[in-house]
Amino acid sequence: MSGDGSGAGDGLAARRGADDAVVYQPAEDSGLLAEAAVAEAHGRVLEVGTGSGWVAERVAEERGLDVVGSDLNPHAARQARERGVEAVVADLLSPFRADAFDTVCFNPPYLPTDPDNEWDDWMEHALSGGESGRELIEPFLADVGRALAPDGVVLLLVSSLTGYDEVLGLVDEAGFAAEPVVEESFPFETLTVLALRRA
Ligand SMILES: C[S@@+](CC[C@H](N)C(=O)[O-])C[C@H]1O[C@@H](n2cnc3c(N)ncnc32)[C@H](O)[C@@H]1O
Repeated sequence: MSGDGSGAGDGLAARRGADDAVVYQPAEDSGLLAEAAVAEAHGRVLEVGTGSGWVAERVAEERGLDVVGSDLNPHAARQARERGVEAVVADLLSPFRADAFDTVCFNPPYLPTDPDNEWDDWMEHALSGGESGRELIEPFLADVGRALAPDGVVLLLVSSLTGYDEVLGLVDEAGFAAEPVVEESFPFETLTVLALRRA
């Protein structure tokens, strides 16, 4: 939507443009997570790291489920809310009570990044998984069982760049069994969405 020249509309459009620059916009990984979530989600749904809110919006619209989005980035939470997604600012699962969700989805920041090349802005938070690529996946898997209802499912996007076998090891340690739901190969990586259920 462009401004109407009155000032107020221009301000909103400018703010949206500024948010786009610091919020991860839907890409191939988002599309794969949405496909898996539309197929597998049930009950109360949380999308951790919702970014623009596009995945959460698709699940809400295509499945008619109650979906909450959360993100560390306040610009992302605002953009998701502008899409009509209920969204909160949160660090991973920290504010959510035990057994709160039947489905938890996460497309984590996963690029292995040399500490000397970290660039310290919201896009770094969206992309960098630290040196191993798994620095967000590890605490997420360690805590997700707490927020998940007993028959719940976790949908986790994993890149081959992050170390597929290493992630499967973390999944096992967290007490889950993993099943690939969708997978697609690109020139530099293979993306898989795993459905995790209690082993
Ligand atoms: C790869 S983007 C995915 C965005 C969106 N879900 C999608 O698929 O298009 C990762 C998201 O995780 C968010 N994020 C990074 N660290 C986080 C944390 N500790 N807690 C919650 N969200 C976090 C980022 O701000 C970013 O929006």
